[in-house]
Amino acid sequence: MTLPDFEQLRRLGWEFRENKIFLAVNDLDLFTYLSPQPLTAQEIAQRLNLNARALEIVLDALVSMKLLDKKDNHYSNQEIAEAYLVNGKKTYRGEIFKHLHQCREQWENLGQILRTGELPSERKFTIREERRANRHFIWGMDNIACDRAQLIAGMLDLSTVGNMLDLGGGAATYSIAFVKKNPQLKAVVLDLPLTLEVARENIALNDLEKRISTTEGSFWEVGLGTGYDLVWISQIIHSLNESKCRELIQKAAAALAPGGALIIHDFILEDDHTRPFDAALFSVHMLVVTEGGRSYSVNEIMGWLKEAGLSQVQRIEIDAHSGMVRGTVPVAQAGST
Ligand SMILES: C[S@@+](CC[C@H](N)C(=O)[O-])C[C@H]1O[C@@H](n2cnc3c(N)ncnc32)[C@H](O)[C@@H]1O
Repeated sequence: MTLPDFEQLRRLGWEFRENKIFLAVNDLDLFTYLSPQPLTAQEIAQRLNLNARALEIVLDALVSMKLLDKKDNHYSNQEIAEAYLVNGKKTYRGEIFKHLHQCREQWENLGQILRTGELPSERKFTIREERRANRHFIWGMDNIACDRAQLIAGMLDLSTVGNMLDLGGGAATYSIAFVKKNPQLKAVVLDLPLTLEVARENIALNDLEKRISTTEGSFWEVGLGTGYDLVWISQIIHSLNESKCRELIQKAAAALAPGGALIIHDFILEDDHTRPFDAALFSVHMLVVTEGGRSYSVNEIMGWLKEAGLSQVQRIEIDAHSGMVRGTVPVAQAGST
């Protein structure tokens, strides 16, 4: 009997090594220190107050991982590290990995969650820890959404949309891309207070204070307003259980003007819930970090939009990473849901 190749399992078992090395040195902003000039292990250890022997072993592994170069015992950033992992550069995207490192702790609970179906009781954070963690999370979302926001801004025809509500808009990433592309458009970003600190910084960095405003509060508690041409809900519903998804979609639909559109953007599963890969694995991430969240299938989301009274409900495909579902308020029923 010929056995299958063992390689797939070997790789799966060892994958944590690269992941942990990368996340640990990114937390230390190692690549930022290597940006001005190449340094020896001893020099880096001194600057970062680290153990030189341990650091050298890790630095050599980072060379093997193609994140660093080594010449005459001096380490320097490879192109990808220099582009995205140097804190302070405009192209810096290291925040998402600081956020993922925090989430990794919660993944250690997966075995227990499989037995109980519930998250273990949460460690209490101080306000300062919470603010710091939220900044990594929200700037991290911007790190991964900025390219996608450009892509989607190019895909959607928003040329007749006057005003939009960006519900749980995070760092305002999508509002920024949409208003830049559509000169007539104004946006309101509704989110929690700590998140809006980041959103306002991002809006100011892009000089868009006159076209993007913010509303502070929980979307469960505050009124969303009415008369919007577009309500945009990106990467929110995966953190909610089914009944909360329904509730939020109903609330969002009621904020729309006649003929206005609701667009859900998220990881979207095929009906058998096993594809695409990103959506299926993200579902486990939500199992580990939220009470009741998961990825949803296109038919589940379309069903909720129809239940909320929206018509012309349709899927808008993007790629294997995320997708959209759009529905429109029939002109006669606007504001009545
Ligand atoms: C995964 S992020 C998505 C951010 C943004 N929509 C995007 O796609 O980049 C989830 C966002 O929901 C916000 N959020 C979570 N619970 C909320 C609530 N109850 N009310 C308002 N915003 C909330 C978070 O602060 C965060 O900005």
